[in-house]
Amino acid sequence: MRIALIGYGVVARNFHEIIEEKKDEIKKRYGIVPKIVAICDRGGYVHSRRGLSYEKLVKVKEETGTVASYEGGIRGARGIDMIDEVEAEVLVEASVANFENGQPALDHIIRAFERRMHVITCNKPPLALAMPSLIEMAWHYGVEFLYSGTVGGGTPFLSFTSRALRGNNVKSIRGILNGTSNYVLTQMLERNLSLEEALEEARRLGYAEEDPTLDIGGFDAAAKLVILMNHAMGERVTIRDIKISGIEHVTLDMVKESLKRGRVIKLIARSSPKPQVSAEEIDVNEPLNVGGTLNAVSFDVEGLGEVVLIGRGAGGRETACSILRDLVELKDRLSLKGLWT
Ligand code: HSE
Repeated sequence: MRIALIGYGVVARNFHEIIEEKKDEIKKRYGIVPKIVAICDRGGYVHSRRGLSYEKLVKVKEETGTVASYEGGIRGARGIDMIDEVEAEVLVEASVANFENGQPALDHIIRAFERRMHVITCNKPPLALAMPSLIEMAWHYGVEFLYSGTVGGGTPFLSFTSRALRGNNVKSIRGILNGTSNYVLTQMLERNLSLEEALEEARRLGYAEEDPTLDIGGFDAAAKLVILMNHAMGERVTIRDIKISGIEHVTLDMVKESLKRGRVIKLIARSSPKPQVSAEEIDVNEPLNVGGTLNAVSFDVEGLGEVVLIGRGAGGRETACSILRDLVELKDRLSLKGLWT
């Protein structure tokens, strides 16, 4: 399976490392031989039909700061041109996009659809802003669109609903969807750190977004709520439909006072009664009271009642695992359609 990769940050590098490390297993268990034939970062792109060497790419990136210095392939400046030139079955979009317009990732995804490439992304902004349209577009062009790394890092919240709960409707969703703000609130409670000190730690540990106001301001959680609602509930919403507030106003005093009442403050994303993200007090004994960077989602499922899934919600390796899962899922879907040769 020929893969074009956009972005070579922590997640993409971990993904590349995993498919290199596990290539024999991936071939044996799933019948997939992934080959990175093109790669692009902020410095430009390189592509080669023969495939790009993992060792060489990592070395070049470390020494020069960009994959575009790789020798032995065709080079260029923009991801969009790379998509136009490359012959690959799948685009893995792992660049850094913004919540203003989702670019440049949004254009990359659309162009890949137009070129009849399947797309796997862990990029939240394009989905938060335009998920209903992107789903329609993928359908229109007859390609697969997979995005399990956008929610929950490596924890399969999305496929839990679409695979494990098949036939059972999810009526509502309520949960903790941002690892950074949960880490911050936990450190405030357990170590008496101020919000600023805890956030600085979360940044150093690599959990926070490039712009951490997206974490503590609730936008990241809102993006994930949008993705979950579209995917698990069949809703057609975007981030504009979510009422968003964050944890910026939460002080150490507030955290301590809540605890005296047997409650904890958490950044809660909920689909009902109206879709919203805000700091809420929950009971200490609730299953949603998870610490550190954990994410937890409570699904209200028709016929089953409450089902709670908990797992690590952030991290490069974890998110890279979800891209690999999407690759396997892609192969399954293509096999079902008789399109896997
Ligand atoms: N900044 C995000 C979080 C990363 O803290 O949850 C994972 O999406």
